[in-house]
Amino acid sequence: MKADIVFGGLHDGEYPGAFPPKVEKIILKLIGSDTPVLHLFSGSSEIGDVRVDTNPESKATHTANVFDFLKFPVAKREWKWVIGDPDYCDEQSKRLGRKGQFNSGKVFADWRDERKLSAFMDSYARNIIWLDRRMPGFSQNFERKKVWLIFQGGWRNVRVLQWLSKTMLPLSDYDQLKEPRP
Ligand SMILES: C[S@@+](CC[C@H](N)C(=O)[O-])C[C@H]1O[C@@H](n2cnc3c(N)ncnc32)[C@H](O)[C@@H]1O
Repeated sequence: MKADIVFGGLHDGEYPGAFPPKVEKIILKLIGSDTPVLHLFSGSSEIGDVRVDTNPESKATHTANVFDFLKFPVAKREWKWVIGDPDYCDEQSKRLGRKGQFNSGKVFADWRDERKLSAFMDSYARNIIWLDRRMPGFSQNFERKKVWLIFQGGWRNVRVLQWLSKTMLPLSDYDQLKEPRP
């Protein structure tokens, strides 16, 4: 696994909490022209073919709770990349003065939601890009390919961007492979 450290020049994006431009650049370079890309908790970002956020003022293609969206038929397909950048907690979104009403306090406090996300990734994601330290436990089918430590300076938290890639097929895929060929 590789690790890079990114220093300085990390002015906030469109609002505090949005992808800083350098992070956006790293993500865009990683995904290249790959498609389809699913972006969960997408906020003001326009990265991704399908973007999901509860905030009607966001640039999401689907205004929905991520955990509901994961059950929609449109979600259940193979995604080359799934990007996730949830809030740490309600306090953070309040403190940052984000527009709109959010209630993400339970995002990862609730292990059932964490499991839902983990199971979804196992079935449908080839690669995951996750920003920040609160990341659900993903299965052993994923290998951590690279980590970026993002130093924003001053008293700000160091942010962590991670890239995980599926190295093992989930069991359901093996079952399909066992089907006799015509
Ligand atoms: C840290 S911000 C994402 C910032 C994004 N990377 C950008 O560049 O704008 C987290 C986003 O998650 C959204 N959010 C929080 N809980 C959610 C949920 N359960 N379902 C969907 N979106 C949620 C918030 O509305 C917020 O826009």
